[in-house]
Amino acid sequence: MNERGNCNNIINRVILGDIRKMYRQIPDTSIQSIITSPPYFGHRKYSGDDASRDEIGREKNLEEYIQNLVFCFELIKPKLKATGLLWLNLGDTYRNKELLGIPWRVAFALKDKGWKLRSDIIWKKPNAMPSSVKDRPTTDHEYVFLFSKTSNYYYDADAIREPHVTFSSESKMKGGRKHLGKRDGTPEQGKNGGNQNLHNGRWDRAFHPRGRNKRTVWEIPLGKFREAHFAVYPEQLVETCLLASTKIGDIVFDPFTGSGTTGIVAIKNNRKFMGCELVETYQKMAQKRIDSVIYRPSLFV
Ligand SMILES: C[S@@+](CC[C@H](N)C(=O)[O-])C[C@H]1O[C@@H](n2cnc3c(N)ncnc32)[C@H](O)[C@@H]1O
Repeated sequence: MNERGNCNNIINRVILGDIRKMYRQIPDTSIQSIITSPPYFGHRKYSGDDASRDEIGREKNLEEYIQNLVFCFELIKPKLKATGLLWLNLGDTYRNKELLGIPWRVAFALKDKGWKLRSDIIWKKPNAMPSSVKDRPTTDHEYVFLFSKTSNYYYDADAIREPHVTFSSESKMKGGRKHLGKRDGTPEQGKNGGNQNLHNGRWDRAFHPRGRNKRTVWEIPLGKFREAHFAVYPEQLVETCLLASTKIGDIVFDPFTGSGTTGIVAIKNNRKFMGCELVETYQKMAQKRIDSVIYRPSLFV
């Protein structure tokens, strides 16, 4: 396998090793979407007390962490299609009673390298761990940043619409066709100018039948799978990113695979997966979980 080769032998596989070396196995422009949650700064020791020097998140200072993380994404960038997207989940860290602002620092550093920041999404965790702090609010959110490589990327807004909340099915509307904007448009595209052409249409018929465009606060509970890996993100979070940024058969990549959540969601949704994980225990765990989804007969009946 080289940078121009085909990638059949790493499809639905988790490569073991440091992403800064293993990225070479991935052919250029093969990936449609990167969905990942790198280690947070100073939170965990994934490789145990016998620390691997290659482990991201254990750097002595924040600048080095940001530099390392940005370097990883620079190495992966050529592997992403021009129409591809990067979804980056990051949480923050407190030091000496001060919030470090890490997610935004990383986001700015990636912007400086030419990644286009398209959205800052708040992942609100309704079942976040309670904390004992009394001198500030308890944190119950993390960020998911959406980056593109170019301005012309694939994004399926319809796949992740959410229910309308600003009107009931009985609400009447005023404003006629102007609500709809251009033909086959949605009211969100229209003017709603309160014009002369009043009528008694219903909001639910005027608005997009599949719901309103996805908003930037996503309330998603932490998942149940906590077996031996600390920082598992929920399948629903990954699925939202995946459905908006890929079609069936596309390749999804997670450079920091952990327990394999991105892979599992990709395969359940008939996408292909490629992953990389530094720590052998997690690489094996992820591969086992991914294999059990691939070979689950109920998926094929
Ligand atoms: C936050 S966890 C990912 C959790 C994952 N999203 C899940 O749902 O299970 C980050 C992972 O990155 C791995 N990691 C740390 N440094 C790495 C490196 N240089 N290359 C590849 N993986 C690395 C860690 O071992 C850890 O499992």
